[in-house]
Amino acid sequence: MTRGIFISFEGGEGSGKSLQAQRLADALKAKRRDVVLTREPGGTAAGERIREIVLHAQEIALSPEAQVLLYSTARAQNVREVIEPALDAGKVVIADRFFDSTMAYQGYGHGVPLERIRDVTALACGEVVPDRTFLLDIAVDVGLSRSGWRAQSKWDRFEVLDAAFHERVREGYLRLGAAEPRRWLVLKADRDESVIAAEVWREVEALLAAPAR
Ligand code: TMP
Repeated sequence: MTRGIFISFEGGEGSGKSLQAQRLADALKAKRRDVVLTREPGGTAAGERIREIVLHAQEIALSPEAQVLLYSTARAQNVREVIEPALDAGKVVIADRFFDSTMAYQGYGHGVPLERIRDVTALACGEVVPDRTFLLDIAVDVGLSRSGWRAQSKWDRFEVLDAAFHERVREGYLRLGAAEPRRWLVLKADRDESVIAAEVWREVEALLAAPAR
């Protein structure tokens, strides 16, 4: 059995990555591909509980280091329970965020040393690395207003941070993308969603057709 393909979507608040991840899953299903769509933090029972704590529990203080460990805990479970079994079964796995989010938010955003995050990620993910990562890049002010910053009913640990934090996250993502250009594709996210979806599709079709498959 050929190993499946692992695709991740990354981006800041209001970048539209979740919508693109869903569109890609729908497009692949329409082509009768076996697809697993997962999100982080989340994807498993443990992950969804952790999501509640790490994102929405206003009364719980979490240092950036504690955040790294919590996100990585959720990820370790997601890798073993969902992602690896699906890849072993030849499926296409689409992750709405993966370890690059920890590098961008806790690393570049909050200043946790990137090497320390890489160490924890190696334990959490083992050899599991996305085959292709789509970065939906958007200006911070546009993204934050699209995401309804501070207008949501549920408190959110990240949306209460200032614009300078989100600028560091954006810059961090762009650096991650530049450092590994074979894995990353940077897409301008302030365009029509179907134009972006078509670019994603073109890339994924090429991946599916690659000789290794
Ligand atoms: P989302 O549901 O819009 O993707 O939001 C998840 C939030 O969690 C987002 O603000 C980014 C944050 N996050 C991190 O800070 N580190 C991580 O490793 C992950 C997966 C998410």
